[in-house]
Formats: sequence, structure tokens, C-alpha cells
Amino acid sequence: MVEKFYYPNPAHTAQAAIKNMDEYHALMTEAREDYEGFWARYAREKIDWFKPFDSVLDDSNAPFYRWFDGGQLNIAHQCVDRHLLTRKNKAAIIFEGDNGDQRILTYRELANEVNKTANLLKNRFEVVKGDRVVLYMPMIPEAAVMMLACAKIGAIHSVVFGGFSAEALRDRIVDAEAKLIVTADGAFRKGQPYMLKPIVDEALSRDCEAVRYVCVVERNGEEVEWKAGRDYSYNELIKSESARCDAAIMESEDPLFLLYTSGSTGKPKGVQHSSAGYILWAQMTMEWVFDLKENDTYWCTADVGWITGHTYIVYGPLAAGATTVMFEGVPTFPDAGRCWKMIEEYQVNQFYTAPTAIRLLHKMGEHEPQKYDMSSLRILGTVGEPIDPPAWRWYHEKIGGGDCAIVDTYWQTETGGHVISPLPFATPVRPSCATFPLPGIMAEVIDKEGHPTPAGEQGYLCITKPWPSMIRTIWGDQERFVKSYFGDCAKEGKPVYFSGDGAVIDAEGYITITGRTDDVINVSGHRMGTAEVESAIKKHPQVAAVAVVGKPHPIKGEGIFAYVVMKGEDTISEEIELVQEINAVIKKEIGAIALCDSMIFVPDLPKTRSGKIMRRILRALAKGEEITQDISTLEDPSIVDKIKNCCKGAGMH
Ligand code: WTA
Repeated sequence: MVEKFYYPNPAHTAQAAIKNMDEYHALMTEAREDYEGFWARYAREKIDWFKPFDSVLDDSNAPFYRWFDGGQLNIAHQCVDRHLLTRKNKAAIIFEGDNGDQRILTYRELANEVNKTANLLKNRFEVVKGDRVVLYMPMIPEAAVMMLACAKIGAIHSVVFGGFSAEALRDRIVDAEAKLIVTADGAFRKGQPYMLKPIVDEALSRDCEAVRYVCVVERNGEEVEWKAGRDYSYNELIKSESARCDAAIMESEDPLFLLYTSGSTGKPKGVQHSSAGYILWAQMTMEWVFDLKENDTYWCTADVGWITGHTYIVYGPLAAGATTVMFEGVPTFPDAGRCWKMIEEYQVNQFYTAPTAIRLLHKMGEHEPQKYDMSSLRILGTVGEPIDPPAWRWYHEKIGGGDCAIVDTYWQTETGGHVISPLPFATPVRPSCATFPLPGIMAEVIDKEGHPTPAGEQGYLCITKPWPSMIRTIWGDQERFVKSYFGDCAKEGKPVYFSGDGAVIDAEGYITITGRTDDVINVSGHRMGTAEVESAIKKHPQVAAVAVVGKPHPIKGEGIFAYVVMKGEDTISEEIELVQEINAVIKKEIGAIALCDSMIFVPDLPKTRSGKIMRRILRALAKGEEITQDISTLEDPSIVDKIKNCCKGAGMH
């Protein structure tokens, strides 16, 4: 079915940051004709420089690109301090807790909290410029305060999502050689307290020699262990810190943060972002894609542990001087109308969430939206995975009342901010299509040699020119950085950034993302490396071999499907316990987010004679599809039928 177009709501076009497609094309042309001039113009306009930059783009050591060299700035100054002149009493962060408690921090209060915390980091925890600080935090304002406090003194933060296990947390602490861990006793979820500090204790039980201190924010008041000389209460220490703190003078290319993400091999990658280029694009996309206005209330439901939480809860909104909502709870508690209730109460103007949440809320509370007045909404956003047309339409009609713009924003941890997205009041959109590259972003659908793929045919989604907010390197592994992103595609003989996603472009230039071309699956909008899950499963002593693939899932987008080969002669009667045991191993190694949706035990995996697992066959079998491809190259072609029978036996199809 060809989807119809939805046109921008004319009521908002006149005031929009980008008002129509002519303006969009004019910006694109400007960027094409004078790429450096385009970015220099915005960098001068948007950033409050301590010292202006000398050069725009340095590509002499490609792909280690440098932007705005010579420039000096501070990201906490850009996001907080500079707003004190014009917005000191404006709400910067509106926080709502799981149980409905509320806290509002004005820009002035936020500035004070950031300064006190920055002083604490410096004076009490001996953190200096360039040190790594791991944040393992719930969704409370202190998470944002900590990020900004690191930025204020030039420390590099690495936020680890609170759903990761002690093992996964330890890996990230060790890789970054963090000196300080900031956590909370725990927080609240669905009306109940849950714990984080014990997980930090377990993570630190070995291999974390670089860690000197643990700073604990007391949120849920539950009992935790305190290790003398290592663990300190934030709430106690912060009382005696001064609310004055000078901003560290940072160079444009000084790293702002690391954020670990999954790749196609086992070890997560520490994606390193810069200061100036990152904040510039975070702020610009906030203004363009969310069409931010001074009095708006903006809400993104992501977790600060992911890139969306970094760029579109903390850095983008605050750089742009917005009011950003932060929510500790889950969208289904106390019922599936929680988000809609909050939209009514705070008169939210922009709401940004993941397709998984939309599908879940549709399924669990179809009639909830009509109970609330959501007429304040102007823009709805989605991120993290493709949105299917039924979910898009429900979002459009029931949440947006049929007249909100929907921005299907395509981007990645590595891109720092949106790269392909509709402009809310300019771009005619079709459900499930991310539409056009944003002005300044040279995203193209090409083959491996850089030729544009014909309309309607799948190609590789590449960005053929460096852009300010791009990943700078993988922490501690330059070679992997080059190989992961610049090893597959080239244009005019020069390596270009390949996203790992496939895409199709149509005759009008609309780009539709078709999904990962590598062994990364997307579960509820979270990136999961199949190799990562496989290496966790292999830690179970009875597992001989395993292959993990993605399988379409009605709510999560993709679910994890594991084919497991056991050692020896294990009997079917043990299977239920084995599934539980293997899931327990996954929970320990990675966290509950990587639990398998389906697990079947098979006699062997489909391997070629050279020993390579043919995942395409496993993907097709997981979906219940017939195998149409040639299986004669398999070492043992009869294995396909055997696996099929196992699937049938397990009641899969
Ligand atoms: C996928 C999240 C389709 C894509 C910001 C990408 C999407 C990965 C979209 C990055 C979208 C993100 N439509 N797919 N609008 N947005 N993706 O690093 O496969 O957690 O490579 O960043 O999510 O996930 P990440």
C-alpha cells in the first residue's frame, strides 16, 4: 500500500524555524556550495565562545576530523550559565517522580546545583579535567546535574544505563578507567523502590583499581552498605559546597562524554563525542526539528543512559534554553494513561518517544488518550527504530488529535543528533519514512563504491561528508573506529561514514530506513549486538554453541531469538530449567534488557564447510519462513530440517 502524504499544519508554518521546503532547499544549497561557511555561520551564531575558533573543519587526518579548532568554550556555560541573563527564573527541568512527586529547577537553581556539584567533584573527589566519571543513575535531576557538573570542570562522563548488570557496568568502568562512580541508593519504579548501589558494589568487587570514590545520591532512602573511605553521600557533602564555580576553559575538540553502545562484535564501543561540534548540533536540531519556542514545555521520555537522553533531555534542550521534562517512572504506571495525563498537566508542546512505547500504550490503553486534554501538543517525535504505519496513525490521530506534526527522527549514538528527519512545519510526510537529510548533513543512499542507488532499490546509508556532531573515535581503540565506520563504503575513492543501516530512496528523494545490515538487533529501540548476547549465553557451562538472531515482535519491534546447542546428551525434560538458567546468565552478564524472547535447543547450527554460521537461514526459520536459498553449501544440509522440527516441537510455528 502506498501511504498518503500528510502536509504541515498551516497554523504553525508562519512562526516555524524552517517554514517550507524552499527554505529547506535553500539551506541545503548553502551547505553544498560553501560547506565550511555554512557551519561557521551557525557556530558563530549559536555558541557563546570564550575564544573564537580559527578554523572550521580540519580533515588532514581523516577520518579523525576536527571541528572549530582554536575555539574555547564550556558546555555547562552554554547550557546553563549563559541563560542566567535572560531566563534565570524560567523552569529548566521539570521533574516528575514515579509516585507523582514533583520538582522544578529554574535555570538559576540549576546553575547553583551544577556549581555546587562541580565543586564537590573537584574538591572532595579530586576529579580533574580529562578524568572519566561513570554515572550509573536513575532518572532524577541529579543525573543531569552530574553530567553538567562534569562538563563544567572538563571531566568526561560515561553514563551507563541503569538496566545494565554489574558485569556490564564493570566492563564499562574498566574500559574507561573511571576514577569516580556516581550512583543512587536506588529509585522508584511502579510504586516500588529498586536498588542501584548494590550493583555498583558488585561491579567494583574486582578489576576496578582506578576507582577511588563512589558518590551516592540518596533517592529512595533504602538501606545500602557504605564502604569507609570510598563511599560518600552526595546529599550530605553537597550542603557545604559553594554555589560559585568558574567554568573550565575547554577546547572545541576536548571530549565531552563517552557512551558505550553495541557493535557487531562482542565488546561494547565507547563512542567519544566532542564539545563544540556536539553541542552545536544538539542545539540546532532542537530548534529545527522540535521547532522550539520560548514558552514551550518539551518532554522526551528516553532514559539518560542512552544517547537520546543525552542529546534530547539534557544537552539539546538546555543549550536551547528550553524547559525539559524528566520522568522517573514508566508509562504504564499507575495506568497506560500516565503520559497523556502528564501532557495535560504540564501542557507539553513537544512529546518525543519510541515506537515501542507507542505500540505498548496503544495495546494496553487504547481509550486512555481521550480522557485527557492534549491540545497543547504541536509536535510528536519518534526515535530508535522504524515506526510501523498503524502505530504512526494511532499516534497521529489519538495523541496528536490529527493536527500535530510527526517527526520520525533517524540518528544514532554515533551521529550525536538527528541526521534524517522531517522538519515539522515544512516537510510533507508519509508514515514510517524519515524523509530528508537535515540541512548540512550529506546523507546518501549509495553502493559500496559511492554510486547513488536507483530509486526504490536498497543501498547503504552513508554520510559522505564529516559533520560537527559525529563520533570522534572509539575510546582507546582508534583502529576499531576506522574499521567500524569507514571500512565499508567509499565515495570517489575516499572512505565515507557508513551507518550500518540499509535504506531506500525514492524518486523524490524521500529516504526510508530499512534496518541494520550488520549483526545488530534493535529491541525496543535498544541496540543489541548479537555477538554480545551470544558471548553471554556461552558462559553457561553446558552450552556448546549458540547463534542469536532478531525476530519481528509486535511490541518491541524485534525480539531476541536464540538457537542453543548443548554439550552432551541433554534431554528435553530439562529444557525449562535450562531456559531459566541461560536467562539468568544473560541477566548477570548484560541485564534484563537482553533476555531472550525465544530459545530453542538444536542439535547443531547451520554452518558452511569453512565453519561460518549461516544466519540468514536462522533468521528465516525464526520468522517461520520457507527456506528458498541454496543450502547445498552447508556442511550438513539436513540440519535445516532438523532445526525446523525443533521449532515445531517447541510450538514456535
Ligand atoms: C535505528 C538511537 C528507523 C537504526 C538514537 C540506527 C532507526 C539505530 C531510527 C541507532 C528511525 C534509530 N527509523 N531506525 N527513526 N532511529 N534507528 O545508537 O538502526 O541507540 O542505526 O541511537 O537505531 O540506535 P542508537
